[in-house]
Amino acid sequence: MGRARALALIALGAAALAGAQASPPLFPVGIGPLPLTGESLEPERCGSCHREAHERWASSAHAKGLSNPVYEAEARHAGGLACARCHSPRHEVVADHGVDCATCHVRDGQVLTSHAVETQAHPTRQDPRLTDGTLCAACHQFDFAAAASDERARYVADEPLQNTMEEWRSSTAAANGRGCVDCHMDGHAFAGFDDRALLEKAVRVRIRARRRGDQVLVNASFLPRPELGHAFPTGDMFRVAILRIRLGDEETTYELRRHFATVSIEEPDGTVAFRVGQAADTRVMPLPAAPRRVELSVPAAEGPLRWRLELHRLPPALAEARALEDTTRVIAQGRVAVR
Ligand code: HEC
Ligand code: HEC
Ligand code: HEC
Ligand code: HEC
Ligand code: HEC
Repeated sequence: MGRARALALIALGAAALAGAQASPPLFPVGIGPLPLTGESLEPERCGSCHREAHERWASSAHAKGLSNPVYEAEARHAGGLACARCHSPRHEVVADHGVDCATCHVRDGQVLTSHAVETQAHPTRQDPRLTDGTLCAACHQFDFAAAASDERARYVADEPLQNTMEEWRSSTAAANGRGCVDCHMDGHAFAGFDDRALLEKAVRVRIRARRRGDQVLVNASFLPRPELGHAFPTGDMFRVAILRIRLGDEETTYELRRHFATVSIEEPDGTVAFRVGQAADTRVMPLPAAPRRVELSVPAAEGPLRWRLELHRLPPALAEARALEDTTRVIAQGRVAVR
């Protein structure tokens, strides 16, 4: 493909954008309104020159958009809300590409880059917001009311539905200048739930067990590792990590998660309303936060005590109710002697 043709096609994207400026941006905040149409903006087109970026992106969660089965089940359940705004922002004008190249890289007919790039292939513009967290926060930090305005009445408005950016702000990683891109962008695969090496870097588990009468008392500590850049787990409100302790035939569990419950709130006019809100947060926070320590007990039995830490996309009961499979990853396991 010739260079002149690539330029013309990118320009087409810009023209379409100019024509559509009166309508509200599909993209919530971030780095400005999205480009709307133009063949030059198709991921395959970008990928014809940027092969590796395209290959890795195509395997990523970002590319799955509306077709991820966990998302599909939830969207069906939530019904008709503006979920695609983040899951596949350009899907109303092009096919469902999920979060595609143009969503992150193209504004005003220019390709945004993290550093100064000179090329005849297309116009470029260096934009620090690509890497300083602004772009990521546009979708990875939002409140209930903003995400689900139709459901305003159900949730406590202005409580975070996803809080990854704020969690990161408080971390040692942030203080040391390590941003989202530094930990998640070894290329465009955007390591996440399916990257075991990444998950193993989140926390260190320490288990101690001692016998007290007919019970075994278990002290579990979850120590945030320096490689954890926000809460564990972070992201979607349904994420939960489960510690399973097994001794003989008995099992006890502890859940690292945000707990939601019906709470009563006072409206500005003084009336009391019932909403779903966060009642507790038992996740592990990143350094410099202290480790989370919990004490559990299991009925005494012979043999070593076995433990396992699992990350679940959503609580197992909910996954079962929605007939979803492959929603669990084992992050760490071990056995300890009872003293
Ligand atoms: C005709 C080939 C071609 C097409 C099509 C193309 N690019 Fe490029 N792009 C280049 C070349 C050549 C450069 C110069 C630097 C390089 O070689 O990576 C470049 C540079 C870039 C950079 C900066 C690279 C860096 O080193 O930081 C980004 C980001 C980028 N393109 C994204 C895109 C996106 C997104 C699309 C689709 C909307 C696209 N490109 C379409 C050829 C192309
Ligand atoms: C979720 C946002 C996002 C999506 C989607 C995305 N990129 Fe990027 N891309 C970035 C960021 C951020 C950087 C800068 C990374 C850095 O400098 O460390 C980048 C860097 C690049 C670069 C230069 C360096 C490199 O890693 O190769 C190219 C080329 C590029 N992107 C092309 C693409 C293409 C082509 C697509 C679609 C197939 C795409 N990007 C999809 C966010 C994205
Ligand atoms: C347009 C919205 C949007 C932007 C911008 C965006 N993301 Fe995402 N991101 C998503 C959505 C939606 C998902 C979940 C897709 C799914 O699982 O259905 C996701 C998933 C992820 C995941 C989890 C992958 C997994 O496999 O668990 C990581 C990590 C991630 N994004 C990092 C980033 C980073 C870093 C940036 C900034 C460079 C960024 N994202 C920008 C919407 C966005
Ligand atoms: C110091 C490294 C580090 C930094 C900085 C960092 N992360 Fe992560 N991220 C991790 C680790 C480790 C995991 C796996 C454990 C977990 O889920 O918390 C992870 C997981 C995730 C997930 C996957 C959650 C899931 O269960 O699918 C998302 C989404 C994510 N990070 C987004 C971000 C965003 C957005 C930023 C910037 C605000 C960011 N991360 C900054 C290390 C980091
Ligand atoms: C403001 C942006 C935004 C909006 C609006 C949004 N989401 Fe998401 N959603 C995300 C991001 C970012 C992730 C990735 C976090 C992670 O990996 O944990 C995500 C992840 C999810 C997941 C987890 C997917 C998985 O792979 O496990 C589900 C389910 C989900 N969203 C459902 C919805 C539904 C249903 C709606 C509409 C009611 C919606 N989302 C609206 C940004 C958004």
